[in-house]
Order: sequence, then C-alpha cells, then structure tokens
Amino acid sequence: MKKYFVSVALMALIAACSGGSGTDAKKDSSSTAPDASAAAPATTDVSANPDYKAGLALIAKSDCLTCHKVAEKLIGPAYQDVANKYAGQDTAIAYLSKKVIAGGSGVWGAIPMTPHPQLAQADVEQMVKYILLLKTQ
Ligand code: HEC
Repeated sequence: MKKYFVSVALMALIAACSGGSGTDAKKDSSSTAPDASAAAPATTDVSANPDYKAGLALIAKSDCLTCHKVAEKLIGPAYQDVANKYAGQDTAIAYLSKKVIAGGSGVWGAIPMTPHPQLAQADVEQMVKYILLLKTQ
C-alpha cells in the first residue's frame, strides 16, 4: 500500500517535471486542465508530510478558509500563490506567522487580513509550514 503510494507520487513527479520546462508556458493556455494537473502532483506529493497534516488541521479549525482557498484567490490570496512567493526565503515562517497574528494589508492588495491575536505563535507557524508546502513552482 505504501509502496503503491510512493510509486504513484513518483510517477506524478516525473510527469510534472517532463511537462514543465518553461515557467510561463502554461499561463498562455486558456484551458484550465493543465493548471489542475500541474497543481495535483505538488499536493499529492506533500500530503503525507506531518507538517502538512498538522497545519491543515489547525487551519480547518480556524477561520482561514472563509477568506483563503488553496488554488484560487478568494478575499485573501490563494495559498499556492503565497507559497510560490515566499518559498525558499529563510524569514518566511517568522514573517508570515507574525502577519497572520497581527493582520494587515498592502502585500496582495488593499483588503486587510483580520488579526488573529487569539492564536498561539506555534500553531500559526505550523499553519504557515503547511501553506509553504503548497508551492507549485
Ligand atoms: C477576513 C479574511 C481573512 C481571514 C479570516 C484570513 N485571511 Fe489571510 N489574508 C487575507 C488577506 C486579504 C490577505 C492579503 C493581505 C495583504 O495584502 O497584505 C491575506 C494574506 C495572508 C497571507 C500572506 C501574507 C503576506 O504578507 O504575504 C497568509 C500566509 C495568510 N493570509 C494566512 C492566513 C491564515 C493562516 C489564516 C487563519 C488563521 C488567515 N490567513 C485568515 C484575508 C484573510
């Protein structure tokens, strides 16, 4: 069962790599199908990560999903877009967890995120780790 999952994940990864040479190539396509297939391997691949599961559970218990979706902009930016913007930055977890607790606007537009002072720093860091795992690039 586990082996099966790993090989499916590997195949998805190989498919993703062989299909994605140009970074902008997919954006020109008007069809939504390539985007959906490009997003699938990243989420399939990381969903076994403990940070993914723990972060998602915390996000599901909080109010985040009233304003955020994984792949589409809602009131706030899509989590995939947040992940793509900050992936690889050492300061991302510290910066983003502070921003979620304090709230604010100006990075993605004029609409502010509400502050979340009731959340524990460690829980917010866990949520941010999950968000950063959603990167598609
Ligand atoms: C009332 C709607 C709303 C809620 C609820 C909300 N967000 Fe946001 N979020 C936003 C908006 C709007 C932005 C864009 C802010 C900006 O442009 O600086 C944002 C931005 C973000 C960012 C990127 C910040 C940056 O500076 O790039 C992260 C990460 C984030 N939200 C995570 C969360 C998490 C985790 C929760 C739940 C604890 C949450 N959000 C709840 C509306 C919301």
